[in-house]
Amino acid sequence: MAMKRAAASAVRAFISSRNPAPASVLASRGLHASPGSKKIVGVFYQANEYASMNPNFLGCAENALGIREWLESQGHQYIVTSDKDGPHCELEKHIPDLHVLITTPFHPAYVTAERINKAKNLQLLLTAGIGSDHVDLKAAAEAGLTVAEVTGSNVVSVAEDELMRILILVRNFLPGHHQVINGEWNVAAIAYRAYDLEGKTVGTVGAGRIGRLLLQRLKPFNCNLLYHDRIKMDPQLESEIGAKFEEDLDAMLPKCDVIVINTPLTEKTKGMFDKERIAKLKKGVLIVNNARGAIMDTQAVVDACSSGHIAGYSGDVWNPQPAPKDHPWRYMPNQAMTPHVSGTTIDGQLRYAAGVKDMLERYFKGEDFPPQNYIVKDGVLANQYR
Ligand SMILES: NC(=O)c1ccc[n+]([C@@H]2O[C@H](COP(=O)([O-])OP(=O)(O)OC[C@H]3O[C@@H](n4cnc5c(N)ncnc54)[C@H](O)[C@@H]3O)[C@@H](O)[C@H]2O)c1
Repeated sequence: MAMKRAAASAVRAFISSRNPAPASVLASRGLHASPGSKKIVGVFYQANEYASMNPNFLGCAENALGIREWLESQGHQYIVTSDKDGPHCELEKHIPDLHVLITTPFHPAYVTAERINKAKNLQLLLTAGIGSDHVDLKAAAEAGLTVAEVTGSNVVSVAEDELMRILILVRNFLPGHHQVINGEWNVAAIAYRAYDLEGKTVGTVGAGRIGRLLLQRLKPFNCNLLYHDRIKMDPQLESEIGAKFEEDLDAMLPKCDVIVINTPLTEKTKGMFDKERIAKLKKGVLIVNNARGAIMDTQAVVDACSSGHIAGYSGDVWNPQPAPKDHPWRYMPNQAMTPHVSGTTIDGQLRYAAGVKDMLERYFKGEDFPPQNYIVKDGVLANQYR
């Protein structure tokens, strides 16, 4: 593991070959690392009155992944907070001496280069869930940190949620629901743009774990399924799923009635859906984005929803999170947004809590993690983040 001395010196060599400055940072980091008891900080969303309503509700600050007793019985210190932003927040107080930081994409602790630089004891950044873009991954790599997530933990949760959002948009569900709450009854106001999903062209940008599960779930709806990815699926899987590979993203997008985003947020996907790209989409396109808010240009989405070029936009990811009260996506027409929730079902929580515990156990024993969990290891970013 990156925190072993041998690996750390390999990291130092790697870093100094790229950039001589951080080598001194790494050296001091090594000196401060304590071999025994660790200070572990968890940043999770606050559940308040909901915390005690389900014994399996592990993802909140109060229940803190259910690992407090286990950690403390081994002499480790476990600080948990939801106060994560700004120079005077609770998290900031612990940055200088924490060894491990655990956070979730649902209420992410933003780990900037500045925080990494201050965190002289920090060795390990764990994401309870999937998607570690809240970490400055280059800075983490240069500092010799390990970044890992619980790969696969909530992919079913997200794929199911995406299917729901597609149907909500295609059937124009929300206006009807609002009518019921407001004591109204106006079939026409819903029906003039409610469609069947059957026969429509649905394209996923990214067909990794979530994208594939979504395509599998869409197959019985008899749609025309397309996917764009860095990597083509093996032919047998492709024919089982029944989706056609589109190597050129810009050739695929204008064919789609529904576009679903399923890539991580990386330097290549940030702002991928800007004004120019959105202008080339079919007029009336529906977009589902549970991947990351920053894959979209915020204002371009607002403008296209306002003009009706995007007829419906739904997702649970925002930039930043929590979304401020004045975030323009809250107020744009044709949206079916929610807070970031799709990957934090109770089933998902049980899986990512178990995955975090497993990685901590391995970390204490100096063992490697499952290889697919690493986002940064030994100074190197996982393939798709490079
Ligand atoms: N909303 C939620 O609760 C939630 C939960 C889990 C994951 N997510 C998001 O979904 C993302 C995908 O998760 P996953 O488990 O399917 O990941 P994955 O790694 O299995 O799949 C990602 C796919 O995207 C492809 N990809 C990466 N960069 C690309 C690019 N520039 N162009 C085309 N394809 C590219 C990869 O080749 C891969 O097939 C996560 O990174 C995370 O941001 C959101």
